[in-house]
Amino acid sequence: MKLCLLLFLLCLCCLGLTQELSTVPPDVPLGEEKETEEEVGCAGGQAFSPEKRRAVGGAIERLGLKLLGQLPVGPQQPNVIISPLSLALALAQLTLGARNETEKLLLESLHASDLPCYHHILGALVPHLRNTSLEVAARTYLRPGFDVKLSFVEDSLARYRSSPVPLVSVEEVNQWVENCTSGHISNFMESLPHSVVLMLINAVYFKGVWQTQFDPMATFKETFYLSNRNSVPVDMMKSPQYPLRLLNDQQLEAQIASFPFKGNTSFLIVMPLPGKGNLSAVLPKLNISDLYRRLPREKAMQVKLPKVKLQYRQELQEALTNMGLGSLFSGPNLSGISNDPLQVTGVRHASTLELSEEGVEASATTAVTTMRSISLLSVNSPFFFALVDDASLTPLFMGFVTNPAPDRDPMLNDDPGRNGTMSDQPETDSVGRGGINSVSSAAAGEEE
Ligand SMILES: *[C@@H]1O[C@H](CO)[C@@H](O)[C@H](O)[C@H]1NC(C)=O
Ligand SMILES: *[C@@H]1O[C@H](CO)[C@@H](O)[C@H](O)[C@H]1NC(C)=O
Ligand SMILES: *[C@@H]1O[C@H](CO)[C@@H](O)[C@H](O)[C@H]1NC(C)=O
Ligand SMILES: *[C@@H]1O[C@H](CO)[C@@H](O)[C@H](O)[C@H]1NC(C)=O
Ligand SMILES: *[C@@H]1O[C@H](CO)[C@@H](O)[C@H](O)[C@H]1NC(C)=O
Ligand SMILES: *[C@@H]1O[C@H](CO)[C@@H](O)[C@H](O)[C@H]1NC(C)=O
Ligand SMILES: *[C@@H]1O[C@H](CO)[C@@H](O)[C@H](O)[C@H]1NC(C)=O
Ligand SMILES: *[C@@H]1O[C@H](CO)[C@@H](O)[C@H](O)[C@H]1NC(C)=O
Repeated sequence: MKLCLLLFLLCLCCLGLTQELSTVPPDVPLGEEKETEEEVGCAGGQAFSPEKRRAVGGAIERLGLKLLGQLPVGPQQPNVIISPLSLALALAQLTLGARNETEKLLLESLHASDLPCYHHILGALVPHLRNTSLEVAARTYLRPGFDVKLSFVEDSLARYRSSPVPLVSVEEVNQWVENCTSGHISNFMESLPHSVVLMLINAVYFKGVWQTQFDPMATFKETFYLSNRNSVPVDMMKSPQYPLRLLNDQQLEAQIASFPFKGNTSFLIVMPLPGKGNLSAVLPKLNISDLYRRLPREKAMQVKLPKVKLQYRQELQEALTNMGLGSLFSGPNLSGISNDPLQVTGVRHASTLELSEEGVEASATTAVTTMRSISLLSVNSPFFFALVDDASLTPLFMGFVTNPAPDRDPMLNDDPGRNGTMSDQPETDSVGRGGINSVSSAAAGEEE
């Protein structure tokens, strides 16, 4: 079972707002599904081709990788979990109300400048993803009395199913957040400044089931190597014969594996080889569609995967500013939302990740039992992960795990001479011998 949750919030303030707004509720069409007129050529709702969906999926991937590259990773914050999809939905909704240079800038950072009908395709991706154990909820909170343009409210509802709701109290917002994350994120906001007139908020929740489950009886404490020097004990889920697509990639100096979930999503892991690659070197070279194309067919092998439960919270203003979106926080042109001058004052994010044993099928299938386990994947050092929709290759979540047990004190490695040799790998392991170290570049990634 895998469970990920995420929340993304954009707060907008009205510049120079001095007096309290009235408490008259705004005149907005609550929850009504009103289809506005379509731009010529973008109509037709759900019927976008797989190529167009992949193009939008690739744009979301670039956005996510760029954000990941800006987020601090260190001993204080060893793990990062973001949802590129959720970020894209929030920025795209803001784009609906942006004009002039601000609209241009937002479309560029969404990598959507060259994608016709971006809003329609992204909006239509969500119902498609709802087919794959993903839940998406979105709300547009409006301070009563704030003079919002109806066209923005209507477009937000039509494209992104973001319902307008009066912004009344921080408790009500937190209650909604807690509700749509099944209790996993509580007290999301501490306070609500008077100057906040608009909040764009969305939550993405994924509860997936491994296509092949791990046997809980086989989970034991094992060593996870934080670095050459330090390690922590973690609960390691194990299977002697797990069907997996595994690629030993020389170029990235990493092992790449794809774990399928029921319902056409998969969990991609990229683990740099200890002593050789590292995460910061791998990140700029990642290309999910390229990796999916090169991953070989599924084969039964010995697998070890840490059982984790991680949390992440981060204010994203600095990272977005470093990505070139600084003007959102100073003087954006959001005249499509309101004639009052607005600026973004906060971008907040909270997420959790849980990996555990549950799946739907017993681990032994007929194809598997006849096969001898010759390969091995042991996820026992820092890794990159992405939860990917197999059809559009949209990364729903991505991040790093550099310490699966951040609350424990690290220990000195029992094997300080460990230079990229995985000490717990069996002799017959093709990874250690033929696989990574000696495969010629032409055959890179292909297993014998
Ligand atoms: C991945 O590489 C392909 C070409 O191999 C390219 O078309 C695509 O845009 C790349 N995707 C990303 C997200 O960089
Ligand atoms: C914002 O953009 C609109 C449309 O291009 C333009 O008419 C308006 O003058 C701009 N406002 C500012 C403050 O630049
Ligand atoms: C942006 O707004 C300014 C006025 O504030 C106007 O001079 C300029 O032409 C606008 N640019 C675009 C691309 O609409
Ligand atoms: C959801 O899946 C069903 C069956 O797998 C399919 O018929 C339907 O078109 C899908 N809906 C979307 C929006 O992709
Ligand atoms: C919480 O969720 C339930 C079921 O999803 C819904 O009926 C209820 O109205 C929600 N409450 C709030 C405050 O959003
Ligand atoms: C998953 O993909 C397969 C083919 O790749 C398709 O037959 C099946 O309907 C898809 N399932 C869902 C839930 O979309
Ligand atoms: C990661 O690898 C790159 C290239 O191999 C190297 O330049 C860099 O110093 C490494 N970073 C760390 C933190 O080891
Ligand atoms: C590990 O690497 C260091 C420097 O890279 C080297 O001095 C040492 O001999 C290596 N140890 C083993 C066991 O290979």
